[in-house]
Amino acid sequence: MIVTSLPRKYYSKWTEIDLSALEHNLKRLQNACQPASAQIMAVVKANAYGHNVSQIAPALFQQGITHYGVATLGEALHLKQLLPQAEHILILGALSVSQYRLALEEGFALMLHTLAHLPILEDLARAIGRPAEAHLKVDTGMGRVGILPTEMGAALDQLALTEWVNLRGICSHLATSDRPACPHIHRQIQIFNEVLSYARSHLREPEALIYHLANSDAVFQYPEAHYNLVRPGISLYGYGGAQGTGLKPVLALKAQITQLKDVPAGTALGYGRSFITARPSRIGVIALGYADGLNRLLSNQQEILVKGQRLPLVGRISMDQCTVDLTDLQQTIEVGETVTFIGQEGDETITAQDWADKIGTIPYEVLTGLGTRLPRWAAE
Ligand SMILES: Cc1ncc(COP(=O)(O)O)c(C=O)c1O
Repeated sequence: MIVTSLPRKYYSKWTEIDLSALEHNLKRLQNACQPASAQIMAVVKANAYGHNVSQIAPALFQQGITHYGVATLGEALHLKQLLPQAEHILILGALSVSQYRLALEEGFALMLHTLAHLPILEDLARAIGRPAEAHLKVDTGMGRVGILPTEMGAALDQLALTEWVNLRGICSHLATSDRPACPHIHRQIQIFNEVLSYARSHLREPEALIYHLANSDAVFQYPEAHYNLVRPGISLYGYGGAQGTGLKPVLALKAQITQLKDVPAGTALGYGRSFITARPSRIGVIALGYADGLNRLLSNQQEILVKGQRLPLVGRISMDQCTVDLTDLQQTIEVGETVTFIGQEGDETITAQDWADKIGTIPYEVLTGLGTRLPRWAAE
């Protein structure tokens, strides 16, 4: 659980959540939606990609977002507590049979990933006297969960026979939206279109359903994948592969210098003695480590911002601490100075994408990996 109850003066590291950037990103997404009537389902799983769903979800709701996507039953329950008025909470992940009952009792919409679960849902929904709201997931080329397009006929036939499972939507997920001009996307869109045209000609009220395929990158790059709902996640938080989208990172990561020391040339810093000073050096110790999400692979690889200047992390990042080389700092500095690991100072910016590029991952992993002991404060 995130400790938010201590007064600010007791923290030496924290994140800042900029809700005006969130609003900005949402507007960019809304402007990109084709047709303009496509609704946005905000994906707020994994604690809103590490940003603190307790701040993010109410802010999105204030901006008129009524549809939310989460991954787990626990996330759905948390979100319902935060937003009892939310119209539609869809659990995107696959649920086990034992989780279905509570999900149905709570009125969450569910993904139907396999036809094997349909009779189970029907029986449970009948037993509790509340219809299941299901989105049929079709595997158009992700190779993960979902029925195969060839099972569409059987799915609609079986759904037509159920009394307690309402088909609310049909959806799929793109495998390569972060790759520019990847032909696989067009193939997935084509398969999804074929699935939908089959469904439309076999359903009694096809216009009542929600059809959704697009994640963030597809919202900006593939308008033909919008249908009547899109499911962006990472772009809400200011990231995504789409070039030129003008998104603003929502999260900044900051910490304070806890110790300053002047050391001679030849001094080894930290575990493994992975960095040895080549000159007399001024070193700053900072209480941020890999337990906070500062990936150990960034050791001797990444810069941070100190008084607006980019300076290198030196020595190995440990669980709770790291060290920065302040020798080239052009201004004076004292213990307690706040430095920026992710965020902006003056003209300089460091992003979660920069970290991700250095260590061969994606900003999703960087952001969701930020530790729970970092409080998420509203940016001033
Ligand atoms: C099913 C589903 N839809 C939408 C999203 C949002 O994707 P993105 O964060 O790339 O916008 C995800 C994220 O992983 C997902 O799993």
